[in-house]
Amino acid sequence: MSDATHAKTGILVSWCAVNWMRSPSSRGEPTRASIADLFGRGIEQWHAARAINPQRAARILAGRLVVRELVTERGLDHWAGFEPTSLGRKPTMTDSDIDFSIAHSAHWLLAAIVQTGSVGVDVETHVNEFDHPGLLRRMCTADELARANELDVSARRSWLATLWTAKEAVSKLDGCGLRGDFRQLHLGDLIPVGEAEHPIAASIAISPHGRAGSPDKRGLERDRFTLLHPQIGNEGVLGSRVMT
Ligand SMILES: CC(C)(COP(=O)(O)OP(=O)(O)OC[C@H]1O[C@@H](n2cnc3c(N)ncnc32)[C@H](O)[C@@H]1OP(=O)(O)O)[C@@H](O)C(=O)NCCC(=O)NCCS
Repeated sequence: MSDATHAKTGILVSWCAVNWMRSPSSRGEPTRASIADLFGRGIEQWHAARAINPQRAARILAGRLVVRELVTERGLDHWAGFEPTSLGRKPTMTDSDIDFSIAHSAHWLLAAIVQTGSVGVDVETHVNEFDHPGLLRRMCTADELARANELDVSARRSWLATLWTAKEAVSKLDGCGLRGDFRQLHLGDLIPVGEAEHPIAASIAISPHGRAGSPDKRGLERDRFTLLHPQIGNEGVLGSRVMT
């Protein structure tokens, strides 16, 4: 588990990145009873997901296990499970002010929690995708496109992958997901240009606003969130760069 504190508000964010195909949970394979305890009111929805797509259900389970481990490690003992949530809605915990966010890419999973405010995360392993000019046009503001074109191929790929994860993370803060137009969300000047290409890009956005279930676009204003960029290696999180 890694921690950082939001510079302006003092909000503590805790996060963890795992290759969930290799280590589903540090507590071992869950039993049927422990799965019911984990999900709480959300258990029926998980069973329904499993009946349709066992692989997706395994992915959901892996993310929820990591979230509960973060809650437990942070010493937030009360556990009442997850609320049933329809597809495309930000998931929430039962009887809790804790906000959390989960993202998957290939076998990698990134999850983060905050006790107040909101959090959004994203991880991206397919950094080569960011060589495609069509994707750039759909995701960048005019200034970001100009910045990308100043960089050499390798630096551009990794800068764009991080920019993409930052935009996804910010859009997951308030639960509205990709409904927003990424060409309207200017974050390019907040994204560092890496020294070397990194195979996994990731971002965590933290805001004191826009809790799950109460979409609040003010949370997307630039001075209302902090971005962190965890550096993920084969063993999980290696460190992070903080941008405020
Ligand atoms: C949410 C969304 C960004 C996920 O992106 P993705 O690249 O497909 O997948 P990721 O792995 O990055 O994220 C998936 C996780 O995001 C979370 N999530 C789902 N919907 C979410 C939302 N609306 N906001 C924040 N997080 C969300 C879930 O935890 C999910 O993981 P799980 O299925 O294991 O629980 C994308 O599906 C989206 O934008 N959907 C539309 C949402 C929308 O318009 N909602 C309307 C309400 S305003």
